[in-house]
Amino acid sequence: MSHCVNGHNPGSDGQAREYLREDLQEFLGGEVLLYKLDDLTRVNPVTLETVLRCLQARYMADTFYTNAGCTLVALNPFKPVPQLYSPELMREYHAAPQPQKLKPHVFTVGEQTYRNVKSLIEPVNQSIVVSGESGAGKTWTSRCLMKFYAVVAASPASWESHKIAERIEQRILNSNPVMEAFGNACTLRNNNSSRFGKFIQLQLNRAQQMTGAAVQTYLLEKTRVACQASSERNFHIFYQICKGASEDERLQWHLPEGAAFSWLPNPERSLEEDCFEVTREAMLHLGIDTPTQNNIFKVRRKATPLMFGRDDGGDTEYQT
Ligand SMILES: Nc1ncnc2c1ncn2[C@@H]1O[C@H](COP(=O)(O)OP(=O)(O)OP(=O)(O)O)[C@@H](O)[C@H]1O
Ligand SMILES: [Mg+2]
Repeated sequence: MSHCVNGHNPGSDGQAREYLREDLQEFLGGEVLLYKLDDLTRVNPVTLETVLRCLQARYMADTFYTNAGCTLVALNPFKPVPQLYSPELMREYHAAPQPQKLKPHVFTVGEQTYRNVKSLIEPVNQSIVVSGESGAGKTWTSRCLMKFYAVVAASPASWESHKIAERIEQRILNSNPVMEAFGNACTLRNNNSSRFGKFIQLQLNRAQQMTGAAVQTYLLEKTRVACQASSERNFHIFYQICKGASEDERLQWHLPEGAAFSWLPNPERSLEEDCFEVTREAMLHLGIDTPTQNNIFKVRRKATPLMFGRDDGGDTEYQT
């Protein structure tokens, strides 16, 4: 069956290739301002080259989100872009009569999903799948969506319920630093690489107020505790403890000042993720009190056989 390429009737394969080349040249060198194409379905002809050139042009113009039909393509800006994630912008997308008419943004996806839950007589669960290679920005995007819902989710009328809702939202946001401290590590590709997968469920009541959240984690890379590739690091939490423990805590946790541990390579690398205080504060907000935290952070030296990630309810001991 013969088919048309941009209105040409190609006839043979050779001719088809020639037409495609002409179309490519016309598209890439022509009138179309690539950075203005905010939906990849408007790229014509659709080839790897045209799609990548379009995304590249948008990246150069500091435009990091592009639609691809009903999918959103997010580029990692690799620099802070605070104006792109301000609460004001969140509210703008939330209040827009048709958010899909605004510039492509992760907030459009968040808002559309929120409205899908809201508009149905019988609430139907909505899912957002965030995928990409290591360092693409999945964790960042998920955090962004959680912040978006915390800002825009309906607020209860009474002061008391409002405070409860606020506390729930804070707890949801505080789950991120805790999960990242214990489950993220510095790798060759990403200083804050998640070494586990997660399914985050945000729960809303019928009035669209956030009532809770549940997080299920998958496939934590437990072997990293004892074995790290060269130039990579162990989980952030170990470095946080070593760098952030007070003198008293060092004594309590059998952690001598300045000790070097073979299982904690590259400790000289200073990352913003190394902040112990942030983790502790977040744990407190999640209801993990200081004595429980101390039990978690206790590092014991023992001459007994080592157990890693033991799941029998006993103390898991990391000999360093
Ligand atoms: N939208 C963004 N704005 C600014 N910086 C970003 C953005 N997205 C990602 N980054 C930067 O890129 C880094 C890597 O992103 P992130 O940790 O989300 O990747 P990931 O896809 O979760 O990778 P992995 O699969 O390794 O966990 C972040 O720590 C952050 O510095
Ligand atoms: Mg991640």
